[in-house]
Amino acid sequence: NPPPLVDGFARRIDYIRVSVTDRCDFRCQYCMSEQVHFLPKADLLSLEELERLCGAFVARGVRKIRLTGGEPLVRRGVLQLFRGLARHVETGALRELTLTTNGSQLERYAADLAACAVKRINVSLDTLDADKFRAITRWGDLPRVLRGIDAAQSAGLRVKINCVALRGINEDDVVGLTAWAHGRGMDMTFIEAMPLGEDAADNIAHFLPLGEVAARLAEHFSLAPSRHSTGGPARYFDLAETGGRVGFITPLSHNFCETCNRVRVTCTGELYTCLGQEDRADLRAPLRASASDDLLNAAIDKALAAKKRGHDFVAQAHGVHAPHVRPMSLTGG
Ligand code: GTP
Ligand code: 5AD
Ligand code: SF4
Repeated sequence: NPPPLVDGFARRIDYIRVSVTDRCDFRCQYCMSEQVHFLPKADLLSLEELERLCGAFVARGVRKIRLTGGEPLVRRGVLQLFRGLARHVETGALRELTLTTNGSQLERYAADLAACAVKRINVSLDTLDADKFRAITRWGDLPRVLRGIDAAQSAGLRVKINCVALRGINEDDVVGLTAWAHGRGMDMTFIEAMPLGEDAADNIAHFLPLGEVAARLAEHFSLAPSRHSTGGPARYFDLAETGGRVGFITPLSHNFCETCNRVRVTCTGELYTCLGQEDRADLRAPLRASASDDLLNAAIDKALAAKKRGHDFVAQAHGVHAPHVRPMSLTGG
């Protein structure tokens, strides 16, 4: 077997995030500018190629695969990919197969996902106010997303809600969202807005450090640090009053790069070794060049050896250099 994946800082990489499409049926203000151009479909890896690529990572010790986008459920035939990857869960090679979704297509897909060895999913939801939801997503229909969440829970999927905290936009929603999520048995995670994409300056303008979200929550709930971990970047707290958990993902106010365990693969077969750096390597050419994975593994190893210590979002926010214009939709966060 080829050796496990380790980067130049001796960090073991066992989690890949795979963006299966750059397309999304919403256009969240902090994620995709309205001007964003979608990639020509011909540039995308086929579902078979994505499956083979993921399989090569599993053979290198990857234990968790999260499909993202854009919106992963708008990729035509995506269930075929889930089915293929579910086999790695069945053999025990893969510990977790999951996705991050905006929830718009969940009514249709929830039961099928549950049948593909998916156990829990993350749904992005920044407010429970339908008008505000429409404004943030530019045209998203909140009731439809809520029906999707219902469908997921009915299908037996555990659901975690992700909320990007934005000053002046949804800071008043954080207590209500938490109470609602916990009332339905869902964990709640807050995320600091990262300066990515064409409109990165807006994200800096609306930046809300999660310390302030924690302070608002603390007015209503008692928060105790939790030992819970998903292998993702969130730090969790238990809320005594609700019995639920709140996670904080703080790339800016409390950097977690030291324990980084992940890389990203895009729908065109590029390997991004860090969310907050431009470094990337083409895996499509080595994938297509040969039926053996030798060239592919060599390309992955070379990229990993050069993986940076961490992101440089803070330097960007201070204007030290230009923000990354690559939209989040390319690498799925
Ligand atoms: P869990 O398995 O539930 O822990 O999921 P996760 O937090 O790993 O994934 P999710 O897709 O829910 O991501 C939540 C937020 O965390 C998104 O805004 C991501 O952009 C952010 N995030 C995930 N991984 C990284 C990372 O490596 N670096 C940074 N800076 N942010 C990340
Ligand atoms: N900063 C932080 N989180 C973001 N997301 C999208 N764009 C950004 C950004 N600029 C979130 C989405 C989703 C997750 C994958 O990333 O809301 O929950
Ligand atoms: Fe890893 Fe880069 Fe994310 Fe830091 S910003 S946790 S180094 S991917």
